[in-house]
Amino acid sequence: MTPDPIPQDIAEALARAGIRLGPFQSRLSWYDSVPSTNDVAAVMAEHGADEGSVVAANAQTSGRGRLGRRWASPPGAGVYASVILRPAVDVVPLITIAAGVAVADGVHAASGVSPRVKWPNDVYIGSRKLAGVLAEAGSAGHGVQHVILGFGVNLLTAAYPPDVAARATSIESELGRPSDRGLVLAECLASLADRYAALQRGDHQAVVDAWRARAADSLGRRDEWEADGATRRGVAEDIDARGALLVRVDGDVVRVISGEVRWVP
Ligand code: BTN
Repeated sequence: MTPDPIPQDIAEALARAGIRLGPFQSRLSWYDSVPSTNDVAAVMAEHGADEGSVVAANAQTSGRGRLGRRWASPPGAGVYASVILRPAVDVVPLITIAAGVAVADGVHAASGVSPRVKWPNDVYIGSRKLAGVLAEAGSAGHGVQHVILGFGVNLLTAAYPPDVAARATSIESELGRPSDRGLVLAECLASLADRYAALQRGDHQAVVDAWRARAADSLGRRDEWEADGATRRGVAEDIDARGALLVRVDGDVVRVISGEVRWVP
């Protein structure tokens, strides 16, 4: 697929971010519309694209969320982007934790809106979802070869369909005015570059601590989740060094390693 020209607002924001973009600097391919930026990035990764390659689009026709869900991606209403990473093996379990924090920090830096994270990597304002991360590992039979990290941020209220309006929000609805999409994209990439560099140099603790700080008001509250066909409930206490959620259930601490948790009122 031949990329389209990068729109001026995006190009200018990326140029202003400069070296803060780390491996993502000067590696962005822009498309007016793609089925899913994660799919385009996966094909590029399988053909040997460099770590740090970024695929971003104005719209997606088959945007995907976690757990097989759809991610509505109408033109210009959200940031839709995916990056190619080739992480060290011990970094892989913490990638999604790092990405959730990076997107929350990037939105904060670009707009002043200060989101929190919900395990493992959802980005919320209050009880409404603002952004999400979809990490997909690619392998060639010898363990993880690359990770495609896709993130979507609701810029405008038009980003999500009416049936999720009670559970979703956008930077526009939080601020009462539209935000600068180039700046949101650039700041998310700059934060991701920073957190990924910390992971790659072995500073996992910094990423875990940053996640805890953004999750402060969801730790200590009641969660429920599905395991082995049953609904389980407990109090989320922390995450561990591998990014698993630690939930106190009666006297025990249970490690939740995949899926999602629901906040219980
Ligand atoms: C979620 O919270 O369920 C994850 C949403 C991830 C959406 C982004 S938008 C860019 C990238 N391409 C996709 O198809 N999905 C991710």
